[in-house]
Amino acid sequence: MNAITDLHPFLDGKPKRLFIGGKWLEAASGKTFETHNPATGEVLAQVAEGDAEDIDRAVAAARAAFTGPWSKFKPAQRQAVLLKLADLVEAHIDELATLDTLDMGAPISRTRNNRQRAVGMLRFYAGMATALHGETIDNSLPGEIVSFTLKEPVGVVGAIIPWNGPLTATIWKIGPALATGCTVVLKPAEEAPLTPLRLAELCVEAGVPPGVVNVVPGFGETAGAALAAHPDVDKVAFTGSHFTGQSIVRASAGNLKRVSLELGGKSPDIVFADADLTQAVPGAGMAVFANSGQICSAGTRLFVEKKIYDEFVGRVADFSKTLRVGDGRDPETQVGPLVSQEQLSRVTGYLSIGRQEGARPLSGGERLTEGALAKGYFVPPTVFADVRDDMRIAQEEIFGPVISAIPFTDIEEVIARGNNTTFGLGSGVWTRDVGKAHKLARAIKAGSVWINCYQAMDPAVPFGGYKMSGYGRESGIQHLDEYLNVKSVWIKTD
Ligand code: NAI
Ligand code: MG
Repeated sequence: MNAITDLHPFLDGKPKRLFIGGKWLEAASGKTFETHNPATGEVLAQVAEGDAEDIDRAVAAARAAFTGPWSKFKPAQRQAVLLKLADLVEAHIDELATLDTLDMGAPISRTRNNRQRAVGMLRFYAGMATALHGETIDNSLPGEIVSFTLKEPVGVVGAIIPWNGPLTATIWKIGPALATGCTVVLKPAEEAPLTPLRLAELCVEAGVPPGVVNVVPGFGETAGAALAAHPDVDKVAFTGSHFTGQSIVRASAGNLKRVSLELGGKSPDIVFADADLTQAVPGAGMAVFANSGQICSAGTRLFVEKKIYDEFVGRVADFSKTLRVGDGRDPETQVGPLVSQEQLSRVTGYLSIGRQEGARPLSGGERLTEGALAKGYFVPPTVFADVRDDMRIAQEEIFGPVISAIPFTDIEEVIARGNNTTFGLGSGVWTRDVGKAHKLARAIKAGSVWINCYQAMDPAVPFGGYKMSGYGRESGIQHLDEYLNVKSVWIKTD
C-alpha cells in the first residue's frame, strides 16, 4: 500500500469513473484529471473527465429512467429509497466526512458535524415525497365544470454544484429530485468530485434505479456548459458564482429550461452597541471564518456601531488569533486550507487590494507558509479595519476568511448601506432590542436574516437569494416546487 491508498477506503489507486445509467464508465474521450488534497497538494485520485458527449449519454440515461421504471414508483416507494439512503449516509458519515475533508480541506470537526444536516435533509425530502399534492379549486364559470391541479415532476434535472460542501451540496440537489420523481445528471465541481461519486455508490445500495441519479465529473466550461445548454434537460439547479450563473441563464435560453440559482453574496452582519458582545464576537467571527470563508452567505461586511467599533473589532481580531489553522484531518483544526491554488491566488490578491485601498489588517493578512502549511493553501483568519463602503473588499465576494469591518452610527444609515450591494443572500443582526430586530428583519433585502446567530440552516426552512444572489429556494416546501410543474385540469360534468 502506498500513502494515498492508506488515507481512505475510496482511494484505491484506480481512476474514478463516471456514473451513467447505473454503470461506471470511462469518459468517451478517455481523458482524466487529477483531484488534490488542498492541505498538502498531493494528488488523491485520477477522475474521468466528462465532456459534452458524456453529458449526452447521461441525459439519455436520465430521460429513459424518467419515462421508464422510475415513473411507476409510488410516492411511498420514493420515500423508502430516500429513507434507505439517509440510513446509509448516517452509517457511513465518518467515511463521507473524511472524503470531503481530503478533497476540499474543511476541518473534520465541521464535515462530521454535517451529519445532522445531510441525514436530516434526506429524511425531510423522504417525508415530502408522500406529502405532495395539487388543489381542488372552485371556479366561477357557469355550469358544472370542475378544476383541480396536478403536481408533476419537471423531468431531467441538470445539477451543477461547487466544491465548498460536496456531501451536503449533492444531497441538496438529489434529495428533492428523488422526492418529486425527477431524474438527475449531477456535475460535481472539478476541485472536489470524490464525495458525489461515493454517494452514487450509496444510491445504488439504497435502491435508486439505474439512470435516476447520474454523476459526471468534468470541467465547467465543457461538461457544465453542455449540461446547461442541453436541449433534453428540463431544469438546471445551480450553485456557484454569479458569473457562472449568468452564463447558465444564457445557455438555458435554447430550450427555455427552468433554472434555479444559488449564487454568492457580500452579506452584511450588523452589530449594535446593545448586543450581547460575548456572543457577538465569536458569532461574527465564525460567520466568516467557518469553512475558511468559503460559504456563499458568509457575513463578510461587518457593520459595527461606532461607539463600540474599536473595542468590538479588536475583540474579533483577538478571537481570530485563537483559531487553529491546519490540516482538516486534525480534529483540533478549526480553519482548514482554501480549496485550490486558484482560490488561494484570488484571496491573497484581495489581501493586497485591501491594504492598497487603505484598510488596516488587525489579524492575518498574509498566506501561511510555516512548516507543513507551506505545501497547502492556507490563509489565516483576517480582520480588516477602517474599511469604507467603496472599497473593493467591501463590495466583491472574496470567498476566503476575510472580514471587512465598517463603522456605522444609526439604524437608518446601516439599513441603506447594508442594502447597498448587488447581492442579497444572508445577513446578520446582533442586538438585544426586539424593536430593532424586527425592523431590520423586514428592511434587509436578503433571503435570510439571522438575529443573534448566524448561518442557522434547517431542511424545513427555505434558503436562497434576492437580487444577484440568485432565484429559487432550496430547503422548505418551496424547494419541492422548484422540481414540479403545475398542471390545471378541467372536467365538464354536465
Ligand atoms: P464556479 O461558479 O465557476 O463553479 C461552480 C460550478 O459551476 C462548478 O461545478 C463548475 O465546474 C461549474 N461551471 C463553471 N463554469 C461553468 C459554465 N460555463 N457552465 C456550467 N457550469 C460551469 O465557481 P468557482 O470557479 O469554483 O469559484 C469562483 C468564485 O465563485 C469563488 O471565489 C466564489 O466567490 C464563488 N463561488 C460561490 C459559491 C457559492 O456557494 N455561492 C460556490 C463556489 C464559488
Ligand atoms: Mg472553478
